[in-house]
Amino acid sequence: MNYNKKSIEDIEVAGKRVLCRCDFNVPTKNGKITSDKRIVAAMPTIEYLVKKGAKVILCSHMGKPKGEWKPELSLKVVAERISELLGKEVIMAADVAGEDSIAKAAAMKDGDVMLLENTRYIKGEEKNDPELSKALAALADIFVNDAFGTAHRAHSSTAGVADYLPAVSGYLVQKEVSIMGKALANPERPFVAILGGAKVSDKLNVINNLLEKVDTLIIGGGMAYTFLAAQGMTVGKSLVDNEKLDYCKEMLAKAEAKGVKLLLPVDTAVAASFPSPIDAEIPVEYVDCTAIPADQMGLDIGPKAAEEFAAAAH
Ligand code: 3PG
Repeated sequence: MNYNKKSIEDIEVAGKRVLCRCDFNVPTKNGKITSDKRIVAAMPTIEYLVKKGAKVILCSHMGKPKGEWKPELSLKVVAERISELLGKEVIMAADVAGEDSIAKAAAMKDGDVMLLENTRYIKGEEKNDPELSKALAALADIFVNDAFGTAHRAHSSTAGVADYLPAVSGYLVQKEVSIMGKALANPERPFVAILGGAKVSDKLNVINNLLEKVDTLIIGGGMAYTFLAAQGMTVGKSLVDNEKLDYCKEMLAKAEAKGVKLLLPVDTAVAASFPSPIDAEIPVEYVDCTAIPADQMGLDIGPKAAEEFAAAAH
C-alpha cells in the first residue's frame, strides 16, 4: 500500500471552497461538550485553510441519529467551540448540503468558516448514497479528509464525496497515515500492537492482517471478552460479539502457528453495569478472568494484566 497521500499543502486552496470532513463526534452531557480533544486535533488543518484564504466548509457526524433530526445531536455546540478556539465566528448551517448550506456557502468570503449540520441527519450518509455525495461536492471545489477517527467508514461525507472532487488529506490524517505507514511497512522490532475499545466487531477484523506483521498482539478493553469467551471462559454480562467467536478461535490458532504472542488479560475490573454517563466514577472489583461472576460485566483490564502488558510492550 502507498502511504504517501497528497495533503492540503500539495494543492492551491486560496480563494477556493474547501469541504473539510472532520471527526467532531465528541462526547456531550446536558448539551455541553465533555471532551474537545477531537476538535482540538482538527484545528491545525482548519487554521491552515483559514490562513491560506480558503472558504472552509466543515462537516462531520455526531452520534448515530440514523437519518433523524435529533436536536441533541446537533453540531451547534461544536461550531461554538471551534469559534472559541479560532477566535472568529463559525457560521452554522441549518442543514447538510441543503438550501441553507448552499446559500451560506455562496455568500462566504475568503477565510470564512462554516459548519454543516450532522451528516447522519441524512439517511443516505451511512449508505454512501451518491446523491448526498454529489450534493456535498457541489458546495466546494476541493475535498479535504481530516476525519481520522471515521476513516474506516465508507460513507458519503468520508468516501463518496471524494469521487466528485479533487481530494487530499488534512494534517491529522497525514500524521496518522505516516506513523502507521512507517510502522506497517518497515517496523522496528519487536513490533507490538495494542488493541482495545468497545467497538468490537469493527476492530476484530484487523487482527487477521496484524498477525501477519506483529511480534506481539495485546488485546484489552471491550474486545478482550469475545476472545476470552472464544477460549471457553464464562464472562458474565461482558460485551461479547457472538458472531465473532469462531473468528477469534481462528485468530488464536493463527497466532500460535505464526509464533506471534497474543496476550489477553488475566484479570479484569468488574461491576454490575457500565457507568452512566460513561465517564462517571463507579466502584469496581478486580477478579481473575477465569472467575467473572455471572451477574457482573468486565469493564477493562485489571492490575495484573496491566503489569503484564506493560512488560510485553517494552
Ligand atoms: C468514533 O467515535 O469511533 C468515530 O467517530 C466513528 O463513529 P461511528 O462508530 O459511530 O461510526
